[in-house]
Amino acid sequence: MISVAIDGPAAAGKSSAAKTVAKRLGLLYLDTGSMYRALGYKAAALGMDPGNESQVLPMLENTKLVVAYKDGDQRLFIDGEDITDKIRTAECGLHASAISAIPAVRERLVAQQKEIAKGNNVVMDGRDIGTVVLPDAPYKFYITASAKTRAQRRNEELVEKGVPAKSIEELEQEIIKRDYDDSHRVHSPLKQAEDAHLIDTTDMTLEQVVAVILEIIEEGENKSDVL
Ligand code: DC
Repeated sequence: MISVAIDGPAAAGKSSAAKTVAKRLGLLYLDTGSMYRALGYKAAALGMDPGNESQVLPMLENTKLVVAYKDGDQRLFIDGEDITDKIRTAECGLHASAISAIPAVRERLVAQQKEIAKGNNVVMDGRDIGTVVLPDAPYKFYITASAKTRAQRRNEELVEKGVPAKSIEELEQEIIKRDYDDSHRVHSPLKQAEDAHLIDTTDMTLEQVVAVILEIIEEGENKSDVL
């Protein structure tokens, strides 16, 4: 079984790199952030505060979250509704970050993620993959970039999608807040696993990031062939 863990702060380019690596190596790609987004989306749609544990816990018991694959692409269903495209907004990212600080939410999603990894060769990206979800993954990466670069990338993404653009400064502030919240929460905060390879993508293209990851994996696979 091959498993590749990719962690890092918001908008660092984790998912583009993870998706490409998964395609090239024929592995299953799991975007774990989308699972937190799905729960955050449902809580907000029901008028709840996604960070309020006493509101969220009863909802959790009555929620069915299904990860499915269509033509190799991940789709997310919450209570039967395909919400894959609806959860990509910046607002939903904040709801996801808030709900992800609730221990019962993390327990439930981590269990689901581990189950998916059990039966498949996977590339997973998130915040706690190398530290909590797949601590024994042979390949771990921590992908980051300056907050300004990440804000610029997020802006390009939003413009491409035709979402009304915010200013780069506003996006940068949102990103800095999310970094702070994600790395200061009590349960499984965002942090680099000791054995993860650090990749600072500030001055790198996606292709370059993918090349670094593939090289490290290929090197590791060659070594394990010899052993
Ligand atoms: O990667 P993303 O922007 O889609 O993630 C949204 C939020 O979900 C992120 O701010 C924190 C949370 N998250 C988490 O706590 N653990 C993960 N493995 C993935 C995401």
